[in-house]
Amino acid sequence: MKHLLSVADLTRETATELLDEADRFEQALLGREVKKLPTLRGRTVMTVFFENSTRTRVSFEVAGKWMSADVINVSASSSSVSKGESLRDTAMTLRAAGADALIVRHPASGAAHQIAAWTKGQGDGAGPAIINAGDGTHEHPTQALLDAVTLRQRLGDIEGRRIGIVGDILHSRVARSNAILLSTLGAEVVLIAPPTLLPVGVSGWPVRVSHDIDAELPSLDAVLMLRVQAERMNGGFFPSAKEYSITYGLSQKRMDLLPEHAVVLHPGPMLRGMEIASSVADSPRTAVLQQVTNGVHVRMAVLFRLLVGSDGGAL
Ligand code: CP
Repeated sequence: MKHLLSVADLTRETATELLDEADRFEQALLGREVKKLPTLRGRTVMTVFFENSTRTRVSFEVAGKWMSADVINVSASSSSVSKGESLRDTAMTLRAAGADALIVRHPASGAAHQIAAWTKGQGDGAGPAIINAGDGTHEHPTQALLDAVTLRQRLGDIEGRRIGIVGDILHSRVARSNAILLSTLGAEVVLIAPPTLLPVGVSGWPVRVSHDIDAELPSLDAVLMLRVQAERMNGGFFPSAKEYSITYGLSQKRMDLLPEHAVVLHPGPMLRGMEIASSVADSPRTAVLQQVTNGVHVRMAVLFRLLVGSDGGAL
């Protein structure tokens, strides 16, 4: 495995190995006062974010530092991109500066794939490992992996579980990556959204589609709530925010429709009062902060797999 660009590239076996590795990193760090493993000493990891981020950027940085890598953060606003430098020149510059891994977030779908093609080995050594940290409305592979780790911890297993993904599927890279990965791992995925917030090609996804959240909740093992991505909607969306909140928002009353064992996930950032009520967001049934913690372990597992390999003895 050279890059992590799409969860569609992961077999069930490889995905399970990554989830297991993430759990092993969690166990290895448990109770340690000094969270530092020598695993990636001498390796250089660069995060390159052309869109804002809190969770993904920080957890990649923490993951790299906990494995003793040198971690360098590049943001578009403080780099020469703001002077007009192209994406290709930026990527090739970071490659030449010694990146072993480039973690890329970009508003264009396919940007990480393009960077992998530009930076691959050209006679001057292998190019860096490219990790897609979110490309437009396409994919967010490490988010899906950390969601799967969280679901395994909360539910025991994923095989045969029914998992609802609710909300703005149209603009969500999290929805696509989760739909693919959870199906690969044997779950039944139900997309629950108004017709206006579903992508045109959704009939090709490995999912069932529903427009009725109240009918679906009682049979779900988990529900993944999505943020409504107003910034990708050119100024407006239908239904209105108020209609959306009433029709699809996870209120306390709606959460009570879930079976007792069911868990609520949200990738963050949450819009409290829009897709999720504050009381639901803060409920012990909601795993939002557990997802963030698992995000560090998953990103450790991914960096380890890409930079050391599957037989390197991570711990
Ligand atoms: N879930 C997620 O990608 O959050 P950030 O945008 O804060 O990284």
